[in-house]
Amino acid sequence: MYIDRIYLQNFRNIHRAEINFFPYFNIIEGKNGQGKTNLLESVYLLSTARSFRSRERGDFIRWESEGCELKGIVREGALERELAVSISPGGRRLTVNRNPVRRFSDFAWILQTVVFSPDDLLIVKGSPSLRRRYLDQLCFQLWRGYAGEAQKFNAALRHRNALLKTRGQSPAWREQMRAWTDQLLSYGARVSAYRQRAVERLDRELDRSFRLVADETKRARLVYRCSAAGDTQGGAPAQAPEQAQKNPVEGAHLETPPDDGLTRALREAYAEELSRRADHERLSGSTPVGPHRDDFAMLIDGREAQRFGSQGQQRLFVLSLKLGELSCLGDGNDGGGPPVLLLDDFSSELDAERIERSIEYLLGFGGQVILTTTSIARLPLPPSLRGKRFRVEQGVVEDLGELRACK
Ligand SMILES: Nc1ncnc2c1ncn2[C@@H]1O[C@H](COP(=O)(O)OP(=O)(O)OP(=O)(O)O)[C@@H](O)[C@H]1O
Ligand SMILES: [Mg+2]
Repeated sequence: MYIDRIYLQNFRNIHRAEINFFPYFNIIEGKNGQGKTNLLESVYLLSTARSFRSRERGDFIRWESEGCELKGIVREGALERELAVSISPGGRRLTVNRNPVRRFSDFAWILQTVVFSPDDLLIVKGSPSLRRRYLDQLCFQLWRGYAGEAQKFNAALRHRNALLKTRGQSPAWREQMRAWTDQLLSYGARVSAYRQRAVERLDRELDRSFRLVADETKRARLVYRCSAAGDTQGGAPAQAPEQAQKNPVEGAHLETPPDDGLTRALREAYAEELSRRADHERLSGSTPVGPHRDDFAMLIDGREAQRFGSQGQQRLFVLSLKLGELSCLGDGNDGGGPPVLLLDDFSSELDAERIERSIEYLLGFGGQVILTTTSIARLPLPPSLRGKRFRVEQGVVEDLGELRACK
């Protein structure tokens, strides 16, 4: 699957653009503040209907304009689909092949992307909620059943917290509380099981990508930290070895939620911890354990990358994570092949050797890559590389043709 072309109108600083991408490498070059990230953001919006850097829809609309339009043609073998997003101050409209889509997921499942942007450093440095958001997005891309489970969990959590705050005592109150707790535990355990599976899969891929891109002498690891585990060493409740091998969530794009030993163990662990902290939660008015309080640790040779990793190592950790994601998503993409990789200024802060290693990794990737750089001269591109080059200046995108032709 790849994005063949896009049309933009009044998107950020881009007045109008029509861009024909190459199915393989695409390099967008430009000085600071010209519109490179805006261009990547537009492709990401066509993929997820969201941005990787702004939550305010109004931000996307070119200043002094009424609204913006984005259109993308996605190709998958002989199949061609048109995705469109129009944004006005009043709202957002999504269409697939010119038909309005009602469910957000019908749109977001068509063009799969993985983005690496400078803000992703926050996955290492930021608060647990950012890591949860990251895992949420990954689970959403991995398993069709995930979004529904997560929605139901969030609703149960909201209702339960609201009820906790009323501090009732009556039998009716207790009955209601029992019902919400039951929902919270059922959906919470499933959400957590999905997330834990995602971490396990990513951990396997990360080891390889980190060795290749960053440092073959060091071991990078991800470890899920369940809020019910009760210790800072983390890890979810132990699961039997045979369960670890027979993983029913392993096949991607499952419609059904995981219902296995891990889910049951998580439910029990959360339930136990909830009753242990019953007094505490009545006072605080919020549910203290569940997937909304879980986290994952990022380790380099067993030490927290957040505390001990250098700035460059942290960036390489996240880059390796994103490259690992490509393999996870590519494996189960219903035959759609690997996702499109969007790399925003990936080479900044990396030494020449790491840039070269990353490029080498990307050459073996085989999918579509769209990357931005302030200077193509910084990228050690092999002469045989198949790709296209674009230049952006003050929001105007110029197609410089195929790479070999312009060398
Ligand atoms: N809604 C908007 N309307 C018009 N211009 C905007 C809007 N939002 C952002 N811009 C402008 O777009 C310009 C380009 O932003 P972008 O982030 O794409 O730059 P860039 O080429 O990635 O630069 P850098 O190399 O510094 O990352 C910025 O100067 C910014 O002020
Ligand atoms: Mg930028």
